[in-house]
Amino acid sequence: ARDDVVRRVNALVRLVPDYPQPGVLFRDITPLLADASAFADVVATMASPAHGPVDLVAGMEARGFLLAAPIATALGAGLVPVRKAGKLPGPLATESYSLEYGDASIEIQPFTIPAGARVLVVDDVLATGGTAAATVRLLRACGAEVVGLSFLVEIAGLDGRRHLEGLAIDSVVTVD
Ligand code: PRP
Repeated sequence: ARDDVVRRVNALVRLVPDYPQPGVLFRDITPLLADASAFADVVATMASPAHGPVDLVAGMEARGFLLAAPIATALGAGLVPVRKAGKLPGPLATESYSLEYGDASIEIQPFTIPAGARVLVVDDVLATGGTAAATVRLLRACGAEVVGLSFLVEIAGLDGRRHLEGLAIDSVVTVD
């Protein structure tokens, strides 16, 4: 079953060279989201708990939201949207990071995270790991326990894992 999910993810994630800028190979998950059964199977796979109970699922804007929200309901957990700067009303916690293509800041509302909350971090792609590492720093600064990270696609060649030492990381598909 897992092999079949991997095969369909590979078939449905579209590779777009030189987007959004030259030299970047963009992984477009939109065709996967549009396939009802593949979307459902990806959500079920990413929600299969390797990390014990989860109180909250944190998803990164924007594509992370699309996976984090159904995974949260599948796990019986709440959702924490990790937003790009300037989108949420305060009070806020903020972290800066560098992306494969640019720099950015992300924000969450710390009052939505109870002390010691067990949080699973979800995103579509692990590339350089900058976004995920900043998200972990942000959640920990708010008193959360990050119990693991779950990605649809991990780009192994960019070695994002080096920024996530000691954390449990699951990826449905790993590519070079
Ligand atoms: C992409 C992707 C991850 C991040 C991974 O998001 O969805 O969040 O980059 O890159 P990293 O591991 O190098 O940090 P992007 O910032 O393009 O935002 P979007 O989902 O709003 O398109």
